[in-house]
Amino acid sequence: APTNASDTEVGAAGELHQQAGGSHPQLTTNQGLPIADNQNSLRANPRGPTLLEDFILREKIFHFDHERIPERVVHARGSAAHGYFELTESLGQYTTAKILNEVGVKTPVFTRFSTVAGGAGSVDTPRDVRGFAVKFYTKEGNWDLVGNNIPVFFIQDAIKFPDLVHAVKMEPDRGFPQAATAHDTFWDYMSVTPEAMHMVMWAMSDRTLPRSLRMMEGFGIHTFRLLDKDGKSTFVKFHWRPKLGLQSTVWDEALKIAGADPDFHRRDLFDAIQNGDFPEWELAVQLFSQEEADKFPFDHLDATKVIPEETVPLKVIGRMVLDRWPDNFFAETEQVAFCPSHVVPGIDFSNDPLLQGRLFSYLDTQLSRLGSPNFHQIPINAPKCPFANHQRDGHMQMTQPKGRVAYEPNTLAADSPRETRANGFHSAAVPENGERGRIRAESFADHYSQARMFYRSQTSHEQAHMASALVFELSKVETPRVRTAMVGHMRNIDEDLARRVADGLALDAMPDAPPSPVPVQDMPPSPALQIIGKM
Ligand code: HEM
Repeated sequence: APTNASDTEVGAAGELHQQAGGSHPQLTTNQGLPIADNQNSLRANPRGPTLLEDFILREKIFHFDHERIPERVVHARGSAAHGYFELTESLGQYTTAKILNEVGVKTPVFTRFSTVAGGAGSVDTPRDVRGFAVKFYTKEGNWDLVGNNIPVFFIQDAIKFPDLVHAVKMEPDRGFPQAATAHDTFWDYMSVTPEAMHMVMWAMSDRTLPRSLRMMEGFGIHTFRLLDKDGKSTFVKFHWRPKLGLQSTVWDEALKIAGADPDFHRRDLFDAIQNGDFPEWELAVQLFSQEEADKFPFDHLDATKVIPEETVPLKVIGRMVLDRWPDNFFAETEQVAFCPSHVVPGIDFSNDPLLQGRLFSYLDTQLSRLGSPNFHQIPINAPKCPFANHQRDGHMQMTQPKGRVAYEPNTLAADSPRETRANGFHSAAVPENGERGRIRAESFADHYSQARMFYRSQTSHEQAHMASALVFELSKVETPRVRTAMVGHMRNIDEDLARRVADGLALDAMPDAPPSPVPVQDMPPSPALQIIGKM
């Protein structure tokens, strides 16, 4: 309620003291002590030193001093919203997961979109990959689909991730640039990482300049498994497709927007939801068997590859609607903890070595980010179904379990939680053989064929944007070797693209293409990979 003169007192120096009453509760300390004066600290005399005794001042400043927590090591800048997922077509034939069986049931979700490289206070429209993370609060526990707006990734093995991120983020001596690309360390690392070339093509496309968070696709990227009641598994890839179509800005627009409104994407999502224009996505899957995977000319465990929609068509199975902005940015958007290892019975992992490393990383980082092993108890992270186990204590423990028994199995407690073999989580029974070792399969060796397919799938103006993006980016690189090495990689992808970039950079001579471990194949261009084709 607005302040009016009758509930406001004026202090000795003219400062205003608003009084509790009516709809205004009492202002208290964290111990519930009503505060008489929130404008003046306790002084030895009106112009004298402040007294250490002032526990009200100390409590208030102590808490303020600790308001910030570490930002995410990647994907620090994000915007999120609540909504629901509704299954429209059952996958009951393939999986026991209730969320993929119960047509028409609305499952609550919390979805966070992010940039990757910039800090929490950076702008919304740099050229960068966007995170697309969905937490489904299912009846069988939380399922997190922690994806990006691009269906492939830079690297094939999680052991490379810290190096990738160190190359992408601001350079450690100078503390800039905040942007993901357009600097020496990013392009230096790309130039010596041939497996990144497919992702580099996507990163240089208009996909990394989304018009709106509401107009982005999302991808689970990795191959996952669905398990039926007999334990039979089917491979699955997940795709989100925006109802508003896939739309991008051009580079010039993105630059101007970054200056005019650093919160452009956050504000757009907020405004749309406040206005009742709830953004919506279709969830689609690609389903395939081991036998089909064995025939692909690439490895389905390799996160640098797409499975062309012409090879395995998309099947739309549901929709997600985001219809509620969080009440509190910190409590929800900042404290939410997504984790690729959060799955439900009937969904399991594949051997993708990038996914396998992710299964460790998120829980681990969130302990240092959120400060306590009990961060699953924060309301945004807690499952909305009952959950119970014998884990105890720890920093910030919020539960108060009763009784003597904190172990299992036991015979002393009549109401303690126990296993459920029938509908609990089972891992796929997969035969494994071969020799142990730090060896990458040769089936991961083709780094250029899909990069070529993607480039050649673009319309001519999309290709022109990619060539300009490469020229702009590489012209920011100070090290000549890095520029020429990247043009060399382009020659393996598309000779015309390499020529355009070399001309744009005014290179004296065309550099040699690096040897490819396997011959580069011409795959038919895929209309499904064009932005323009989806609008
Ligand atoms: C955060 C996606 C690979 C480690 C995130 C987020 C997304 C994401 C969307 C932000 C989640 C949020 O909004 O809170 C992906 C995708 C990957 C990938 C799609 C590849 C397909 C990796 C790998 C690692 C990793 C290989 C480590 C081995 C992290 C960490 C965070 C993060 C540590 C911060 C999590 C937090 O503080 O809550 N990732 N990521 N990611 N990712 Fe990844």
